[in-house]
Amino acid sequence: MCGIVAYLGQKEAYPILLGGLHRLEYRGYDSAGIALMQSSGITMYKKKGRVDELQKFCNNLDTSGSLGIAHTRWATHGEPSEQNAHPHVSEDGSMALIHNGIVENYIILKQQLVNQGVIFQSDTDTEVLVHLIKNVQDKEKVSLPEAVIIALRMVEGTYAIAIISKDDPNQLIVAKKGTPLLIGIGDNEYIIGSDGAPIVEYTKQVIYLEDGDVGVIRIDKPIQISNVNDSKNLHRSPYIQTLELNLEQLEKGGFDTYMLKEIYEQPKAVRDSMRGRINLEKDVVSLGGILEYEQKMLNARRFIIVACGTSWHAGLVAEHLFETLVRVPVEVEYASEFRYRNPVIYEDDVLIAISQSGETADTLAAVEIGKKRGATVIGICNVVGSTMARETMAGSYSHAGPEIGVACTKTFTAQITVLALMALSLAKKKGTISMSQYHKLINDLESAPDKIESVLHYEQQIQRIAQYVATKPNAMFLGRGVNFPIALEGALKLKEISYIHAEGYPAAEIKHGPIALIDTNMPVIVVAPEQHTYDKVVSNIQEIIARKGTIISIVTEGDSVIKKMSKFTIEVPKIDELLTPLVTTIPLQILAYHVALIRDCDVDKPRNLAKSVSVE
Ligand code: AGP
Ligand code: GLU
Repeated sequence: MCGIVAYLGQKEAYPILLGGLHRLEYRGYDSAGIALMQSSGITMYKKKGRVDELQKFCNNLDTSGSLGIAHTRWATHGEPSEQNAHPHVSEDGSMALIHNGIVENYIILKQQLVNQGVIFQSDTDTEVLVHLIKNVQDKEKVSLPEAVIIALRMVEGTYAIAIISKDDPNQLIVAKKGTPLLIGIGDNEYIIGSDGAPIVEYTKQVIYLEDGDVGVIRIDKPIQISNVNDSKNLHRSPYIQTLELNLEQLEKGGFDTYMLKEIYEQPKAVRDSMRGRINLEKDVVSLGGILEYEQKMLNARRFIIVACGTSWHAGLVAEHLFETLVRVPVEVEYASEFRYRNPVIYEDDVLIAISQSGETADTLAAVEIGKKRGATVIGICNVVGSTMARETMAGSYSHAGPEIGVACTKTFTAQITVLALMALSLAKKKGTISMSQYHKLINDLESAPDKIESVLHYEQQIQRIAQYVATKPNAMFLGRGVNFPIALEGALKLKEISYIHAEGYPAAEIKHGPIALIDTNMPVIVVAPEQHTYDKVVSNIQEIIARKGTIISIVTEGDSVIKKMSKFTIEVPKIDELLTPLVTTIPLQILAYHVALIRDCDVDKPRNLAKSVSVE
C-alpha cells in the first residue's frame, strides 16, 4: 500500500532513490528505508518517521552504489518502527527485499521457517518473503530468479517486491501480484516504482508488470519477464508503454484529487479489509486481532460504540449489524459526549472504538474511560501503530490504505466491512444466525467490491444531479433503518466539502418538524433501497411531494415506484439489506464531490477542517 523505488544503472543510486521516496510521500507512510549494493556487500539504512529523517540520518554515511532499493512503509503487520521498516534482509545479510502489499499466509510460512531455525528480526509479514526465498535458494540449489518463482508460488496475498543479492551484485529482481509495480526504461538504466511518480523525471518508457510477473533486470542483458503461473517459466517479451501522466497527475493516480482517487479505490479498500479474514474452506470469518478477547465479546452484555464524525456513522450502521445478527444491545455514542457524561459502564460491556486515524482526542478519551471502568475495549482503526491501536486491548485494522483527502470515503466503507465481518463471526459462534443467512451475507460481502465498482460508473449521471444541488442553499438527506446513518453521512459529506448546509434525518421524523423546511428550493435526497421499510419511505416521499419538495432518490436497480416520484434517481445493485450502506453511500460521496467542484471548493482540504482532530 505504500512506496517502492529501485535503481540499476550507471549513476549513483542514492539521490535517485531518495528523490523517488519523496515523490511517493503523498501516499502517506510511517517509516522508510534504503539498501545499496556496495563493494562490501549490502548496506542498509532504515528510519521510523518521514523520508527527511532517513535523509538526515544518511547525510554523512556511505551512500555509494549504482544498484539500490528503497521503501516507504504503510504498516499493516507490525507497528511502525525501525525494526519493522523495510528493507528486510536474509539471515546472512546477502539478500535485501522491499514489499508493498499483504502476505495473507505469513503466519504459517513464518512458523515453517522458524521450525527450520530461521531467526526473525521483525514483526512484519514481509520478512517471511526474504527468508522464504533464501531458504528455497539454499535448499533447492537454484538461481535467485528461480527461487523467487518457487517461493512466490507458496505466497497468498498481494505483493510488489524488489530484491538485490550479493550473489549477483549487478542484478535486480522484481515481482508483482495485486499491487502495482512499474519498470522505467532509461538510457542504460532502470528505475522501478510503485507508480510513475519516481520514474517520470527520468523516462516515460515503462513496463507495467502483470499479476504473477517476475522480472530479472540487468544492465548487460535485456529484461527477462516470466510468470509464477507459467509452469514452463517461459520468458515473455515485455510490452513497453509510454507514461502519459505528468507528475502532479501521477501523485493522484491519474485522478484530479485525492478524494476522487480514494472514492474509486473503494472496491480495493473493501477487498483488502476482507483479505485473509474469510476462509471459505473452513467456512469461518476470523479477525486475528480480536481472537484473544473473542470470549469477552461473545459474553458481552452490551456493546458501546464510541466514535466521531464519519466513524460515528459507521457505528450506527454497526448497531443494525450487531443487534440484528448478534442479538446483543448496542449503544452508539458520540465520543465527545460520552467522555463527559459519567457513563454507566459494566465489566461485561464491550466498548468498540472506531477511528480511521486512531488519533481523535475524544475517541481516545472514551477508550480510557472504558478501560478505567473495566470494560473490554476493542479498536477498529486504519493506521497501524496509531495511539488508538496501542491503547485498546485488541482490535482490527480496516486496511483501507492511506486516506489523504480530509473527507472520509474508502475508510468508511472499509470500517463497515470490518464491522460486518465482526458481527458475522460473533453471530455464527453464538448461533444467533441461520447458516443460510450467514452464507448469504458472506456471499454478498464478497460481491460488494464489484457492486461498488458498478456504482462508480454513474459518476457522469451524478454530476448532472450535482449541477442542480449546487445552486441550492440547503439540502435534506433522509433514510430509514440501516440507511439512516447513510443519510447522515451524505449530509456530512455535502456540508464538509461544499459548505452547503445539509441535514440528515430518519425519514419518518421529517413530519415531526423538519417538513416545515420543505419547499421548491429544498432538494431532498432519499436513501431508499430495497429494505423492509421501503413502503414507509414511499409514504414519506409522498408527504414531501405534497409540499412541493424535490426528490433525489437512491434506489435498488429495477425500482419502479420511487423512481417515478423523483426528479433524479441513482440505481444501486441489489445486496442484503444490512449491507446496502456499502453501495448507497457511494453516490452520495460522488454527489458531494461534484457539488463542491462546481462551487470551486477545495475538496481535498476543505476550509476549517483537519484530517485528524487530535485536539478536543
Ligand atoms: C469525515 O469525513 C471527517 N473527516 C470527520 O468527521 C472524521 O470522520 C472524524 O473527525 C473522525 O475521524 P477518525 O475516524 O479519524 O476518528
Ligand atoms: N505488509 C507490509 C508491512 O506491514 C508492507 C506494507 C506496505 O505496503 O507498506 O510491512
